[in-house]
Amino acid sequence: MGLMHELEWWKRAVIYEVYPRSFQDSNGDGVGDLRGILDRLDYLVELGVDAIWIAPIYPSPMADFGYDISDYCGIGPIFGTMADFDTLLEQVHQRGLRLILDFVPNHTSDQHPWFLESRSSRENAKRDWYIWRDEPNNWTSNFGGSAWEFDEGTGQYYYHSFLKEQPDLNWRDPDVARAMFDVLRFWLQKGVDGFRVDVMWMMIKDDQFRDNPPNPGFRPGSPSSQRFLPVYNSDRPEVHAIVAAMRNVIDEFSDRVLIGEIYLPVPQLMTYYGKNLTGANLPFNFHLLQCPWSAAAIAEVIGEYNLALPEGAWPNWVLGNHDQPRIASRIGEHQARVAAMLLFTLPGTLTMYYGDEIGMTNVPIAPEQVQDPAEKNEPGIGQGRDPERTPMCWDQSPLAGFTTGAPWLPLGENRTNVNVAAEQGDSASILQLYCKLNALRKTHSTLISGKLHEIHVEQNVLRFRRSGDEEIEVILNMTHESIAVPISQAIVLAGTHSDREGQTVTGLLTLRAAEGLLVLFA
Ligand code: NOJ
Repeated sequence: MGLMHELEWWKRAVIYEVYPRSFQDSNGDGVGDLRGILDRLDYLVELGVDAIWIAPIYPSPMADFGYDISDYCGIGPIFGTMADFDTLLEQVHQRGLRLILDFVPNHTSDQHPWFLESRSSRENAKRDWYIWRDEPNNWTSNFGGSAWEFDEGTGQYYYHSFLKEQPDLNWRDPDVARAMFDVLRFWLQKGVDGFRVDVMWMMIKDDQFRDNPPNPGFRPGSPSSQRFLPVYNSDRPEVHAIVAAMRNVIDEFSDRVLIGEIYLPVPQLMTYYGKNLTGANLPFNFHLLQCPWSAAAIAEVIGEYNLALPEGAWPNWVLGNHDQPRIASRIGEHQARVAAMLLFTLPGTLTMYYGDEIGMTNVPIAPEQVQDPAEKNEPGIGQGRDPERTPMCWDQSPLAGFTTGAPWLPLGENRTNVNVAAEQGDSASILQLYCKLNALRKTHSTLISGKLHEIHVEQNVLRFRRSGDEEIEVILNMTHESIAVPISQAIVLAGTHSDREGQTVTGLLTLRAAEGLLVLFA
């Protein structure tokens, strides 16, 4: 136990992502808001998470639902006021929770005053704050099509990694860096506990604007953004100086955390911890999200990640976010419990996505209901993120307790069973499993900082041990059949099926389909 309290808070933390438009609406406009989050804080305390990361809540024309920011130091009226934010932050802290904000340094909204100035004339002082060129190159937008947009007024093209309404800032201009670091300080001075940095690996681009090479793996029908390999417009060597400078700003304040959104293979991902760990505290590890759901594949990911982790770097694992299909849809509702047990027994900081704790699934979105620009730009090829962004289901009432108005995205049809109120009253629910796993991490420090070893795979059962003050084994049946496994005598701390808790197991144990166990050796 001793060690646990010496660790920085973010090393012990379970981070809960709130997608603010969909968590809780307090004013009946069908879109979630800050007062809504405030009303649900006690739920998060009961669930047992430690920190909340809220996706962007700033003023935004909402072309990309908040990731197109027109004022970095304000609160979007749809979410509330700065007073609401201050109250939320205070109440979060009063409950012993932490608050992490989203920081979007790569691009602004095209309505941001900086961009309006920049595009006003080639001579404008802020012209160089964005990336302007006479000719486009072959770089593509992540939402499809060219990443270059012609500006009639000034006769040049500007670069946008995402929508044309999201022009990229030019981080080679020191004034941009200064302005953006002041944004960090503004929120840090208010007391926020850290930032999740949007597309950290894209922040700087090749200064020669070399064309990207073709992607030999590209298949017709895939998103057009995959046509070329993003060699020259992402993960450039110069990015690390920016990350380190951001980290310096974070470190002007005590006890804060810098998290990076980075989709890269493990070796490249690790470089974002920075030289001598001067980079991000936690470069998000998304490898569970992309890994096929088999014991062998997961064992390999865990092994590769652990081996590559730099000396002293703190691991982290993510099970869901607002850009990825819901885990319960990807692997099925039964395996979603196994996934929860896996997440909570891996070493390091964990991030979970709102609604996954009740087993929410992707909600089918009819063409006329589509909101996400990623789907609108390239329809029908699975780019849309609306299915995983639908409103949180709190109870069985027709609007699930989310709103009194018309919800901005449809509610899941399974909400009569898949909702907080129903699951709070059911000791066998996935919600109760999440509560249990959160509680166990607080009472068994071995789960947080114990050594991870003896990773074994047999018949699609994944087993591993955690050793610290105690010896714990995790046994996960990733199949839909029962499988008998040998086990040394141990006590069950938790199970995906709640009925084995507290039992002593030994000898040959038959795991039921999609059964996971967390056992403690006496
Ligand atoms: C990553 C965010 O998570 C995603 O939702 C957004 O569309 C892009 N970055 C652009 O900001």
